[in-house]
Amino acid sequence: MAEIVIVPSPADAGALVADEIVRLIAERPDTVLGLATGSTPLPVYEALRSRVEGLDVSRVRGFALDEYVGIDPNHPESYRSVITREVVEPLGLNPDLIHTPNGALETISHAGEDYERAIAEAGGIDLQILGIGTSGHIGFNEPGSSFASRTRVKTLIEQTRKDNARFFDRVEDVPMHCITQGLGTILGAKHLVLLAFGEGKAAAVAGAVEGPVTSSLPGSAIQLHPHVTVVVDEAAASQLAHADYYRYVAANKPAWQGL
Ligand code: PGA
Repeated sequence: MAEIVIVPSPADAGALVADEIVRLIAERPDTVLGLATGSTPLPVYEALRSRVEGLDVSRVRGFALDEYVGIDPNHPESYRSVITREVVEPLGLNPDLIHTPNGALETISHAGEDYERAIAEAGGIDLQILGIGTSGHIGFNEPGSSFASRTRVKTLIEQTRKDNARFFDRVEDVPMHCITQGLGTILGAKHLVLLAFGEGKAAAVAGAVEGPVTSSLPGSAIQLHPHVTVVVDEAAASQLAHADYYRYVAANKPAWQGL
């Protein structure tokens, strides 16, 4: 079972996850992070800013979950740009060690395989940060995605394009296609940390954590992974049937047990 941590606020979630990332980097300076975009992981990146002072992050490696297909990498909403702006620059990471799937049309036929190879050559992802979409997607693995899927091109569902329209001028400007790590790729990371905040995520969180394991709710794939931490605020936890048990587990967590 995943460990479910219910926190008062996104800032508390950010602090909790940032502490774990700092612990990993201190232990292994070339730690491989799986980086998510969207609004959800921002409190983690924010909390990391003060924590990385004095820490050698020059060898930290990273792989983004996904990218839009056909977007100019210099577009402010390409995930390359978002990761550079939110993670690489503020934390002082080496940009050469931080990868995003290549959404360029010219090379898209082998971009997925290239990305898989790069992750494998890095020795796999140590800690994968995940958000969850209102559709239940993780990465851009929309409902119906195979649990065995690897990095590949997907078509975004209309709801996801609407959800992401806030980053663009109009919903029509949100790219239709993306290249995303597959569910199989994500399940290959050593530790999954899924974050969700707000009422709008409550149904997806409940389905992912407690619902049947089904490709109709891709986030439910986390139930197949041996080391998952789900960090949610009260609103995102509001549809969890066993929330009281998760609180009881947290209150009685042995001091020796890490995240
Ligand atoms: P959000 O997106 O963090 O912007 O809500 C999450 C997701 O789509 O995975």
